Amino acid sequence: MKAYSLGPDEAIARYVERTYRPEDEVLLEVRERGAREGLPDISLSAMDALHLEVLTRAVGARRAVEIGTLGGYSGIAISRGLAPGGKLDTFEIDPRHAEVARESFRRAGVRDRVEVHVGPALEGLRALRGPVDLVFIDADKEGYPDYLAWAAEHLRVGGLAIGDNTFAWGGIVTGQDSGARALRAFNEALASGGRFRATLLPTGEGLSVGVKIR
Ligand code: SAH
Ligand code: DHB
Ligand code: MG
Repeated sequence: MKAYSLGPDEAIARYVERTYRPEDEVLLEVRERGAREGLPDISLSAMDALHLEVLTRAVGARRAVEIGTLGGYSGIAISRGLAPGGKLDTFEIDPRHAEVARESFRRAGVRDRVEVHVGPALEGLRALRGPVDLVFIDADKEGYPDYLAWAAEHLRVGGLAIGDNTFAWGGIVTGQDSGARALRAFNEALASGGRFRATLLPTGEGLSVGVKIR
């Protein structure tokens, strides 16, 4: 096969941002307020949030689940992509992050469409009934295999499981820390577990996307 080549150079990245204009004033305010509130600077990039909104729209999602809310940046992108009457359930373990996110959803005008669940995601997910149309996984990397197993059971056929950071900051090939190992297991299950037809989009962080097929 033709060898795979990764990623645009900086000039192309700036061109893409100029042209597709991924960050409006609402998202900019959320990013800035998060920094002021001392949240870690680990939200999606603006283009990755746009990818998420477009993917949400593409599957006509009415019910979406996010694991790892932080300040609400990616959650706003998902909620913007939801079909009319749609709902996002987003899970966050840190009550301070959840508080910032609630304010973000209010300012973005999507608070009626978003429920923030505070606590360990795996516990909260147990109470959630499917089927859902989209699951976005972006919390503790060690949890990714379990989150994917939840997604495989609760997504409708045709629904999407999406995972951020699946290059493991370069560690995905040979990294031996717990995060890299878990992300490898996640990619393996998504790519070859039989439940999904999946790809890994070469964003800066690596964005895995699988369509549930059975
Ligand atoms: N999706 C966000 C970024 C998430 S950062 C965005 O792009 O805007 C990861 C978040 O996952 C952090 O806020 C962290 O507190 C949360 N988290 C970590 N472990 C978790 C767990 N077990 N359950 C729920 N949330 C968790
Ligand atoms: C970290 C987590 C993320 O989800 C991310 O996109 C970037 C960094 C982190 O834990 O450092
Ligand atoms: Mg991430």
